[in-house]
Amino acid sequence: MMTIISLLLLASLLPHLTFTARVNVGIVNGKEAEPHSRPYMVSVQAKEHHICGGFLISDRFVMTAAHCRKNSSSVLTVVLGAHDLKKNENSVRFTVESYHQHPNYTNKSFHNDILLLKLEKNVQLNDNIKWISIPAEGSDIEAGSVCSIAGWGRLATKGKRSDRLMETDVKVMNNMECERKWGKKYFSTSQMMCVHGDGGSCNGDSGGPLVCGDTAVGVTSFGDPDRCNSLKLPEVYTKISAYLSWIKDIIKKFN
Ligand SMILES: *[C@@H]1O[C@H](CO)[C@@H](O)[C@H](O)[C@H]1NC(C)=O
Ligand SMILES: *[C@@H]1O[C@H](CO)[C@@H](O)[C@H](O)[C@H]1NC(C)=O
Ligand SMILES: *[C@@H]1O[C@H](CO)[C@@H](O)[C@H](O)[C@H]1NC(C)=O
Repeated sequence: MMTIISLLLLASLLPHLTFTARVNVGIVNGKEAEPHSRPYMVSVQAKEHHICGGFLISDRFVMTAAHCRKNSSSVLTVVLGAHDLKKNENSVRFTVESYHQHPNYTNKSFHNDILLLKLEKNVQLNDNIKWISIPAEGSDIEAGSVCSIAGWGRLATKGKRSDRLMETDVKVMNNMECERKWGKKYFSTSQMMCVHGDGGSCNGDSGGPLVCGDTAVGVTSFGDPDRCNSLKLPEVYTKISAYLSWIKDIIKKFN
């Protein structure tokens, strides 16, 4: 009986999870960021509507989540230097010259959810537009570290999206605990990390960075389909340090 119930539960959970990750994943229970205090933040857009977050990692490349691009014919643009997406003071829109999805990403799972966007031209850096460092080889973030996330996504589960950039602090969780909560099918201890805090990410925050100190260590990937900022199924981030050689190869080859 127990097995049947679990199977039913799993079956009802599966399409739901897939759907959520496909749609995109502000910030619930956060606060408005000081305008332009996170000059690496990017709004990834389709048809000039915000769909995901992203972040500038050089003067030519934006990192985001692979699931933010629904299929190989969807066209994305990025908005840099923004705070309030309704106003375009200080912000600039760039088109994407080429899309570099991780070769092992498929739309059937949450693994390798990482995408690099090569912009049409080099970005002119200024006070509102700067890139953020990614981790050095072999660096790992300890469980319990306090880091932060930011985004223009929903302010509550099924709630409205924010026009102004929101942010919150989060704590990095123990990876084995994440694996216990999500299960091995969804969670990879070597390629993902998960966090929890008073606030958390929600739909529309996917692709944004998990920032520890002055380094982007994760890419917002997926969470509980029924509740943003859930402790039962904590939010999961693609662990950037697991992808450094692929990232370097792409930048070297396409720069
Ligand atoms: C791919 O995405 C584009 C733009 O979102 C859409 O118009 C098109 O129908 C999609 N194609 C497929 C095969 O899903
Ligand atoms: C993709 O997965 C295969 C098989 O696990 C692995 O050998 C390969 O290195 C992966 N590709 C990248 C770019 O990490
Ligand atoms: C997933 O990818 C496959 C192969 O690229 C494609 O045929 C299929 O339409 C995609 N499914 C969704 C839901 O986008």
